[in-house]
Amino acid sequence: MEVSLKGKVILVTGGSRGIGRAISKQLSDSGAAVAVHYNSNKEQAQSILKELNSDSQLFQANLSDASETINLFKQVVEKMNGLDVLINNAGVAIYSDLTKKDDDWLSDWQFTMDVNLRATGLLCKKGIEHFLENGGGRIINISSRAAFRGDTSDYLAYAASKGGVVALTRSIARAYGKNEIKAFTIAPGFVRTDMAQDFMDQYGEGFALNDIALNQLTEPKDLAPLVTLMASGLMDHATGCTIDVNAASYVH
Ligand SMILES: NC(=O)c1ccc[n+]([C@@H]2O[C@H](COP(=O)([O-])OP(=O)(O)OC[C@H]3O[C@@H](n4cnc5c(N)ncnc54)[C@H](O)[C@@H]3O)[C@@H](O)[C@H]2O)c1
Repeated sequence: MEVSLKGKVILVTGGSRGIGRAISKQLSDSGAAVAVHYNSNKEQAQSILKELNSDSQLFQANLSDASETINLFKQVVEKMNGLDVLINNAGVAIYSDLTKKDDDWLSDWQFTMDVNLRATGLLCKKGIEHFLENGGGRIINISSRAAFRGDTSDYLAYAASKGGVVALTRSIARAYGKNEIKAFTIAPGFVRTDMAQDFMDQYGEGFALNDIALNQLTEPKDLAPLVTLMASGLMDHATGCTIDVNAASYVH
């Protein structure tokens, strides 16, 4: 079965590296016009644009800033002539242990919530408004295994923010299904990216590998086909679901 996304406009936040990059590439290969959002590394963003079809474009925004987040959505709709699918992939995982001073721990907490949950919520709000006026759409939010299994004590804010993403996505699916808006969560386990490298620097690669049932760590390309299928509409009756992609390290 070949999945075609021809004619669809799709925004991927954090689309220039890691999981987002693999997602952007496969969406483009499947025919979608991809709005690739990036934060600060323009060179990296330009390098992925060369790998995408000519309908795809780059958009810069710092998602810890609410007005930049709203402006990102506006720019995408204007420059891409609409939006069919919103993919909230950008996120941060900050090492923040409980020995930190309260103020420092709180600022890690706040920043994590701003990027992982507030920006995701805000983009969902803008997406819903747009989809209500334009006959519907799809939202795919990248959460984490941490939302269900929990994380280590050094990543409490991360796990909490990803739990929020799950509840947000399920609520959208329940509230707006009759308006042709579908919402899905993907909960990856450990995926080999820059973010994961930070974790491996702390705990070692063996720790990550021991945790899963397969012999290889999950790669970004292992997530992209699921996103493509969700974006296509072929999975619409699974709206509200969460799909684990964690090599059987945790099944819920
Ligand atoms: N790698 C893993 O093991 C893993 C596991 C579960 C979930 N996830 C989730 O997958 C998603 C992608 O992560 P990744 O592993 O590719 O990591 P990554 O660090 O390579 O990518 C994160 C992306 O988020 C963007 N981003 C971070 N802060 C931002 C900000 N302030 N403004 C705008 N963009 C910002 C980055 O530019 C980058 O594109 C994240 O939501 C992450 O929580 C990753």
